[in-house]
Amino acid sequence: MGRILTGDRPTGPLHIGHYFGSLKNRVELQTLHETYILIADLQALTDNFDDPQKVRDNVKEVLLDYLACGINPDKTNIVLQSKIPAISELTIYFSNLVTMARLSRNPTVKEEIKQKQHLAGDSLTYGFFGYPVSQAADILSFNADIVPVGEDQLPMIELTREIARRFNQIYGQFFVEPDAIVPKGSSRVMGLDGNSKMSKSLGNAIYIKDTPDEIKQKIFSAYTDPLKLRKNDAGHPDGCMVYYYRKLFTENNIAQNELQQVYQQCKNGERGCVLCKQELTEIVVNFLKPFYEKRREMEKDISIPFKILRNGTRKANEVTDKILQDAKSLMKIDYNFIFKI
Ligand code: TRP
Repeated sequence: MGRILTGDRPTGPLHIGHYFGSLKNRVELQTLHETYILIADLQALTDNFDDPQKVRDNVKEVLLDYLACGINPDKTNIVLQSKIPAISELTIYFSNLVTMARLSRNPTVKEEIKQKQHLAGDSLTYGFFGYPVSQAADILSFNADIVPVGEDQLPMIELTREIARRFNQIYGQFFVEPDAIVPKGSSRVMGLDGNSKMSKSLGNAIYIKDTPDEIKQKIFSAYTDPLKLRKNDAGHPDGCMVYYYRKLFTENNIAQNELQQVYQQCKNGERGCVLCKQELTEIVVNFLKPFYEKRREMEKDISIPFKILRNGTRKANEVTDKILQDAKSLMKIDYNFIFKI
């Protein structure tokens, strides 16, 4: 049994891209390992510092989404990042162990800067540029050995390993070099509009909290084969988002056969897009129904999820406080002989 640390930025409700990209994996892994999931509000602030209310509101959304989709509070500690002082403190110590050149080579951060105009050029902040250091502190403050994430997070884990190694070389062997676990196949889910990434900012996402009506409306306006205008036109399922999601949601063997049939019928001009959309709506609504119901139940008395967050955070602090103290001793900044703790 190992220790897992992973997390999400609370910048919006979670969508099925998050689910298939990493939540599903975490739900399976939580039974095997000691698990902590971080609602990374400090990291969310690095590019939303001017909209703190958004981050605050989404702490609750992400908490409810976690519980809705099967994160079990008896197995997983759900943790609020800003309430773990060890993370902020370690971030400062780790910032000495990383060069500017190393940070500027992070492909995920580069991509994000490209997408976010308010971070371009001279507007790039020290906080955003350096958030991978803080993410390393997230992981190392727990001395986690496993980090289940989507593919885009691999550069962060690599940096975390480097920081751990550097710390260990200078101050003495202490931090574990964690391993990332990425779901099999591609962990990135495409958007309803055919964009290669499902994302809130692109407005092309199906959310875990979507109502059946919202799901239907989204699926009916999803990108399909533009050459297939009538039911009897030969279609190209490979470029069709409705077929793509059907494949994504198809797990068991019976449905696999059906999937192949749908593929052939579409290609042969034997089935129309409306039928496909109706069927997909049913599949997605049924799949998300237990999540939806659990979420509604949790929303009824918000003090229950809040208590879960409080307990998870308290347990996390027991772990991280100890790790911080030990790391500081190695760094010779434990002045406990002067300032009794
Ligand atoms: N950077 C991650 C994301 O954008 C969220 C995150 C914050 C995280 N801290 C973490 C992921 C620690 C894994 C481990 O999705």
